[in-house]
Amino acid sequence: MDLRFTEEQIMMQKMVRDFAREEIEPFIERMEAGEFPRDILNKMSELGLMGITVPEEYGGAGMDFTSYIIAINELAKVSPVVSVILSVHTSVGTNPILYYGNEEQKQKYVTKLATGEHLGAFCLTEPSAGSDAASLKTRAVKKDDHYVLNGSKIFITNGGEADTYIVFAVTDPEKGTKGISAFIVEKNFPGFVVGKDEEKMGLHGSRTVQLTFEDMKVPVENLLGEEGEGFKIALGNLDVGRIGIAAKSLGIAEAAVDHAVAYAKEREQFGKPIAQQQGIGFKLADMATAAEAAKLLVYQAAFLRQEGKPCGKEASMAKLFASSTAMNNAIECVQVFGGNGYTEDYPAERLFRDAKISEIYEGTSEIQRIVISKHVTK
Ligand code: CAA
Repeated sequence: MDLRFTEEQIMMQKMVRDFAREEIEPFIERMEAGEFPRDILNKMSELGLMGITVPEEYGGAGMDFTSYIIAINELAKVSPVVSVILSVHTSVGTNPILYYGNEEQKQKYVTKLATGEHLGAFCLTEPSAGSDAASLKTRAVKKDDHYVLNGSKIFITNGGEADTYIVFAVTDPEKGTKGISAFIVEKNFPGFVVGKDEEKMGLHGSRTVQLTFEDMKVPVENLLGEEGEGFKIALGNLDVGRIGIAAKSLGIAEAAVDHAVAYAKEREQFGKPIAQQQGIGFKLADMATAAEAAKLLVYQAAFLRQEGKPCGKEASMAKLFASSTAMNNAIECVQVFGGNGYTEDYPAERLFRDAKISEIYEGTSEIQRIVISKHVTK
């Protein structure tokens, strides 16, 4: 594995880093007040960030997978909110159509998702199907030239804001995981009901809603892949999606190091900067070491994905380790800031609130351990 970025990847990193600092940082207060960063996404569309890995023929930038991961990583250093919106839009909102869709579906949907004209979302989770993703209750019943969709989804990132949704529903209850199918649902299909907008601990500005489908007619042409292929599509895309969440987590872990180091060099106690007190210096050393290890796991998984090699185990390892590093580093960052870290005047408090969800969504840390243990014992 060559761990050096190419010149193009370095250019991408600089472009996103500058954009995050110049455009996103000043917008954070508005997101913290609950505003969805639509203006930011519009600017990201202009920069080609909404379809980084989508081939040019479908309106994307046609760049490699590592460039996408670099973008997610850089965005998260400033705003985990913007980072996760892009990750969900790309990994699980656009890619399922790109990988499993037919030409007509790609022309109709991917072209708009890749340019940012449309925002994407992914609807797997239900009230009784979280980690146990196979126990879906949402039903799709075929009738003439359409399916009738009924059911409810929860915790849908980008929900309500997105234009297209990859929805998983049971088409044959007798067949277990082989009876689940995937559909492309448009926000304007009659029967699409946006429910509760969750008040979250962190990630303010990112929308997380409940959705209900009430006798919604989904045209047969919007079946994604074959009937019964839905579970494979969901888990297959989550494998890759988890590298995105891992990169987002890495960004938080790195930001925690940067903020803690800067503060510790400024803040003086007992006659010298606290960075020179061994208790704090060791903390900074541990935080930086963990972030570096997370980085190697994230970019290893990205590299394998880019090479078209199996990466399920590595993606889960990266997600597991990077998300716990994000949380631990955020906790330590608050500790380095002391009383100031507990106030909203400093970034440590927001990082702390934003970090926790990394260990939960796109598969909890416990689910990652299940996936990894299956790989290492088979
Ligand atoms: N790729 C493709 N197919 C896969 C797969 C994968 N990674 N993992 C399993 N499958 C297939 C299996 O091969 C099997 O098919 P066969 O019978 O033909 O062999 C079928 O799926 C069932 O496999 P399992 O028996 O292993 O499935 P399971 O029911 O035990 O579940 C699980 C496995 C790993 C626990 C899975 O349910 C899981 O990943 N759960 C977590 C769900 C999750 O991550 N949710 C996140 C929601 S999205 C989100 O959070 C987005 C957001 O907003 C940020």
